Amino acid sequence: MTAEAITVAAAGTWTLGDLTVNRLGFGAMRLTGDRASSIQVLRRAVELGVNHIDTAAFYFSPLRSANELINRALAPYPDDLVIATKVGPGRDPSGTWLPWATPQQLRGQVEENLRQLGRDHLDLVNLRAYGAGPIGEHFAALAELRDAGLIRHLGVSNVRPEQLAGAQAIAPVVCVQNRYGIGAPAEAHEFVRACGQQGVAFVPFFAIAGDRREAGTRGTEDGAVLAVARAHGATAAQVRLAWTLHRGPHVLAIPGTGKVDHLVENVAAGALRLTPDEQARLGSL
Ligand SMILES: NC(=O)c1ccc[n+]([C@@H]2O[C@H](COP(=O)([O-])OP(=O)(O)OC[C@H]3O[C@@H](n4cnc5c(N)ncnc54)[C@H](OP(=O)(O)O)[C@@H]3O)[C@@H](O)[C@H]2O)c1
Repeated sequence: MTAEAITVAAAGTWTLGDLTVNRLGFGAMRLTGDRASSIQVLRRAVELGVNHIDTAAFYFSPLRSANELINRALAPYPDDLVIATKVGPGRDPSGTWLPWATPQQLRGQVEENLRQLGRDHLDLVNLRAYGAGPIGEHFAALAELRDAGLIRHLGVSNVRPEQLAGAQAIAPVVCVQNRYGIGAPAEAHEFVRACGQQGVAFVPFFAIAGDRREAGTRGTEDGAVLAVARAHGATAAQVRLAWTLHRGPHVLAIPGTGKVDHLVENVAAGALRLTPDEQARLGSL
C-alpha cells in the first residue's frame, strides 16, 4: 500500500448518536511529550481522515496538556471532528490525582474541558467509573448538563454491564469505553457483543499496549500475533488493532501514539482483513 493510499476509509464508519465518525480514531493520552511533534501527529491524523479523537483534561504533563495541544493543532475545528472527553477522575495543578469527582463537581470538569478545547459544547463526554458501584447519581448530573446544552452525547467508561444498564435508565448512552483487546477475559468478549446488540459503540483502550498499559508496547510479543502479522506483512500492533475492529461494526479504535510513523501504521491497520481462522486463533489467546 502506498503512503498516499492510506486513509481511515477502509475501516468504515459508525454513528454516535447523530455524529458519524470513522471507526479508526485516535487517543490523545500519549501526546504530552514534545509540542511540535504532538501537533504534527494531530494534524496528520486529521489529514488521514481521523475524525474521532479521545482526550481528557487530566491528560497532562508539567508543560503540556492533551486538550491544549488539540486546540492548538486543530482549531478552528473541522465540522465533522468529534472530540470525546471523559470526566470523573481529576488531578490538581501539580498532577496529583484527586478523589473521584462528586456529582456536583462534574459540571466544573465539563467546563474545564470546554475552556481548554475552546468550545461551547462537548460532542461526547464519557463518565469514567471508579469501581463497580452504581454510577446513577453521577450520570444523572451529566444528563442535566446534556439537557442544558453543554454536552451533545454521553458515554460510560470502565463499566460493567449492570453499570451501563443503570446509566441507560437515566439517559441514552452512545458508547462504552473499556479496556479490551486480544487476551481479554470471556466476560469482556460477551460485553462487546452485548453492546453491539444494543447499538452502543464499544471503544477499546489499551488494544495495542495490552498488559503493559501505561508503560506502552510489550517487550516480547505473543508468537501467535507475530505469526499472523508475518502472514500479512503487517506489524503486531496492526494485528492487535485490526482484531478489535473485527469484533463488530460498533467497535471504534482509538490507538494512542506520539509518533507519526506509528499513527500511519495504525490508520493502515483499518485495511487489514483477518481470516475467520486467524480471528478465532487470536481470540482464544
Ligand atoms: N477510559 C479510560 O480509562 C482510558 C484509559 C487509558 C487510555 N484511554 C484512551 O485510550 C487511548 C488508547 O490507549 P493507549 O494510548 O494508552 O494505548 P494503546 O493505544 O493500546 O497503545 C499505545 C502504546 O502503544 C504504542 N504504539 C502505538 N502505536 C504503535 C505502533 N503502530 N507500533 C508500535 N507501538 C505503538 C504507543 O507508543 P508510541 O507513542 O511510541 O507510539 C503507546 O506506548 C488513549 O490514548 C486514551 O485516549 C482511556
